Amino acid sequence: MEKIIIKGGRRLGGEVSVSGMKNAALPILFATILTGDKCVIDNVPPVSDVTIALDILRAIGAEVTWRTRTRVAVNTAGVRPCLSPYQLDNQMRASAYLLGAELGRFSRARVGWPGGCNFGTRPLDLHIKGFETMGAAVSTDSGYIVAEAPNGLHAASVYLDIPSVGATVNLILAAVTTPGTTVITNAAREPHIADLADFLNKCGADIRGAGEDEIVIRGVERLHGCSHTVIPDMIEAGTYMAAVAAAGGSVTLRNVVADHMDSVSAKLREMGAEVTADAEAGTMTVSRTAPLCATHVKTYFYPGFPTDMQPQFAPLMCCAEGISTISEGVWSNRFRYVDELCKMGAHVSVDGSTATFIGPVTLQGAPVVAFDLRAGAAMVIAGLCAGGQTEITNVEVIDRGFYNLVGKLKKLGADIKRVEE
Ligand code: EPZ
Repeated sequence: MEKIIIKGGRRLGGEVSVSGMKNAALPILFATILTGDKCVIDNVPPVSDVTIALDILRAIGAEVTWRTRTRVAVNTAGVRPCLSPYQLDNQMRASAYLLGAELGRFSRARVGWPGGCNFGTRPLDLHIKGFETMGAAVSTDSGYIVAEAPNGLHAASVYLDIPSVGATVNLILAAVTTPGTTVITNAAREPHIADLADFLNKCGADIRGAGEDEIVIRGVERLHGCSHTVIPDMIEAGTYMAAVAAAGGSVTLRNVVADHMDSVSAKLREMGAEVTADAEAGTMTVSRTAPLCATHVKTYFYPGFPTDMQPQFAPLMCCAEGISTISEGVWSNRFRYVDELCKMGAHVSVDGSTATFIGPVTLQGAPVVAFDLRAGAAMVIAGLCAGGQTEITNVEVIDRGFYNLVGKLKKLGADIKRVEE
């Protein structure tokens, strides 16, 4: 077990390179199953969720080789369905993508009930309804989800009640080699959906409309391997942007798509930070010299403000002058970190899906817990702007999705280290 120790109060400066997007890399890695061929995926973040995904691929027969720290070759010729071990599947949410990928290639699939960060119930009903509409029978067996389509899947029109990222990914995976035209309406529009479709189209798929709310997939007979580079991680980028706004200073982010950051940039500007972008160079600069002012954030599906960025904004709202609110519009219980901020002196209250922050407060360092991946990043940001020393435990959850967070912040001038507990 390790902990992160931060001595707060230092401004940040310099440049930071943003890694590839975890939530794009994961569906793409599972999508390689559909090719039965060799794929080379670049800009893969070496985070622990990716390691687990690769372990799952190995366990079902794929050959996996890291070529560099961020380039991985996956050959799925030897993959067999229904072999993934429960203990691996249950460690992450994205293991659910095995269902769509195995169904698409083998017409049968089995996955241990997916785990992942805990912020209330995380149902899979939309995934299952979609598979059933495409002709699969779905059941549970001893903690596994089992899906079978003995006569093969068929194309269908699927309307999603909610633009779920996971259901959209799974239905794309199931549909790419299913004969006929499958249409997903009210699909998720996140950039990682478009990146998955780009990857699959390079492999020979015919997917149109990814990134919009109607996706049309014409089933092709087979896919082949390809090389693909994963898009930059907008949540990692937003986390560094929030960190600079909290700690003060000026930082340039490299390997970032400014368009993906619109909702986050708008809120940071409202709070008094300066945000500029050079889209061609793939860079953005965030500076904050004046005190922060209050704002209101409502999380929503892309292009709305990302739920995966709301915990990182909470420390900013503690320090901002006035009353700020965060309304969580995606998950039922994503405010567990608030108690930890209160230990640091924050004035926050939660009523249902809204947290209200009364500022400005000068946060004080304290021993706090990283409850989940993004809440852990929020604790780091709180530690950067707090007076005194903050010690964060359970930091392994941060490794699920941030590559070298401590090293990158150190390079920006933070007094931060990671030590054995
Ligand atoms: C993805 O989770 C991300 N995970 C999450 O990021 C992110 O918070 C979430 O999308 C929303 O952006 C990955 O990409 C691996 P959803 P996912 O299906 O796919 C409801 C992180 O920190 N819903 O879009 O599980 C659900 O309850 C993680 O990197 C149903 O009702 O999210 C939620 O309210 C945490 N039935 C909403 O839809 C379903 O069958 C959005 O969920 C599926 C979802």
